[in-house]
Amino acid sequence: MRTKIVAGNWKMNMTFSDAEDLLVEIAENLEDLNLDGKEVIVCPPTCFLELATDLADESRITVGAQNVSEHEKGAYTGEVAAMMLESMGVDFCILGHSERRAYYHENNKALATKVDKCLEHSITPIYCCGEVLEERENGKLYNVVKSQLEEALFHLSGDEVKNVVIAYEPVWAIGTGKTATPDQAQEMHAFIRKTLAEKYGEETANTISLLYGGSCNAKNAKELFGQKDVDGGLIGGASLKAEDFITIVKSL
Ligand code: PGA
Repeated sequence: MRTKIVAGNWKMNMTFSDAEDLLVEIAENLEDLNLDGKEVIVCPPTCFLELATDLADESRITVGAQNVSEHEKGAYTGEVAAMMLESMGVDFCILGHSERRAYYHENNKALATKVDKCLEHSITPIYCCGEVLEERENGKLYNVVKSQLEEALFHLSGDEVKNVVIAYEPVWAIGTGKTATPDQAQEMHAFIRKTLAEKYGEETANTISLLYGGSCNAKNAKELFGQKDVDGGLIGGASLKAEDFITIVKSL
């Protein structure tokens, strides 16, 4: 059975006290839920990670970072290393989000190194892939996603890739209110699983959790998560309100 996952990507939002309030509210609301086989991850900005890991010790919250350096340590001002995240009790890290690809020029090659750094430090990468609107309209969506997988993940062994979570996030759906239809999400998730199966075999492909991201919210989560190959969601805007986030968790 694949782990069902809801991960909240807070992006660059919240003050310290907002973050504290939101974390506490999420933790309280998770107390009475049956989370067998499910994982609830919050990915706050780096400066609030410790707030989250402190709370994670006494709650059902698991903590993820939003980015990591491709270097082990040293003179890289402003960067955060995987060993630092590991030493704080961070278990996941979003990698290759389309905002980082677009604004910080992250490419698949650099992401392959970041994936390795995370795995070396027992952090599960949540590796994001997805096409822009033009690529969908030109019918290039499958090639784009396949390259994103091949170039950043396919150097891993079968045992290593089992420790990766993949998030399909069509760029045209992120923060736009234009969610992929459940059929569109399922089609791409099935393609991703098939691509993984061709490289690693079906057994391995079937253990990897595939999340959908892009305007997933309290209203549409249940239908999206009901698709055969959709194992949960990576949630941006709707993860900033405890009530919405919890409704999404309950949709798993
Ligand atoms: P959104 O963002 O839910 O606000 O569309 C998703 C993401 O960027 O991970």
